[in-house]
Amino acid sequence: MSDAWSAVAAGYLEHWVPRFRPFLLEAVDALAARALDLGPLAVPGCGPGEEVLALRRRLPGREVVAMDPSAPMLALLRARAADDPAVRVLEGAAEDLPARVSGAGGVLSCFTLQLLERPLEALAAWARAAAPGAPLVVLFWPRQAPDTAWGRLRPVIEAEAGAWRDDHEPATRAGLPALGLDLLEDRPVRRPMRHPSPEAAWDRLVDAGSLQGLARRVTPDALARCRARWLGDHGLTHEPAGDAEGHGPWVHAPEARLWVLRGGPRR
Ligand SMILES: C[S@@+](CC[C@H](N)C(=O)[O-])C[C@H]1O[C@@H](n2cnc3c(N)ncnc32)[C@H](O)[C@@H]1O
Repeated sequence: MSDAWSAVAAGYLEHWVPRFRPFLLEAVDALAARALDLGPLAVPGCGPGEEVLALRRRLPGREVVAMDPSAPMLALLRARAADDPAVRVLEGAAEDLPARVSGAGGVLSCFTLQLLERPLEALAAWARAAAPGAPLVVLFWPRQAPDTAWGRLRPVIEAEAGAWRDDHEPATRAGLPALGLDLLEDRPVRRPMRHPSPEAAWDRLVDAGSLQGLARRVTPDALARCRARWLGDHGLTHEPAGDAEGHGPWVHAPEARLWVLRGGPRR
């Protein structure tokens, strides 16, 4: 999976990071609002590190340890944080965090949990890397409502490629107590997101985002049929005025989920 993310790293930073920024800032605020333990802040699945840079601005006294399995993603973050000795960049998957970090004052993970095969194992690992009682802020994409632009991706993909990603959220939520994790906050984060055209909205998912994995699994013809079906009923709304950032006139408002968790005292 990290091969697909490595292939899209530069495009992800250019296209998706500006659109995800309002969501990431909400997660950074949620962590900053909590009482943090003394250790460094850990950011597993950091990608090109927008939330890492935002954390450094928001909490300037804190060291941030950023980790991701994709070397190209980390190269982007190293370049972006080159002048900042308080950003430590490590290569590793979600479960590797406790081998490299202990006593983290807090953990922040953005838009990675929904990609993982075993999200509960990742959460357990992040809790082990944190100081007892330190907060874990986890932002992820839940299953999108079927009548929304991103919710309409599922049927067009499943028509060509079979069942597409389970909805991990109910089982993950149900498994939290067994990990000793308290869910302190559980709320939706909805923000408008704009694209130059419906075609660009699909194409950037494929060549710069989460559909790169699909593009590697199906034939080019099957991918083209998915694209045509989604473009036939994409659910984006046209607002010719666009927005101040110049992201484009085609808008939707995807819904992310923000969890704030706290681990209990270590046994
Ligand atoms: C959607 S990007 C999110 C990046 C960044 N956190 C953000 O919100 O912009 C998903 C990231 O998860 C990383 N990833 C993929 N598999 C992973 C794993 N097993 N453990 C941790 N991160 C993983 C990818 O390399 C990629 O950088």
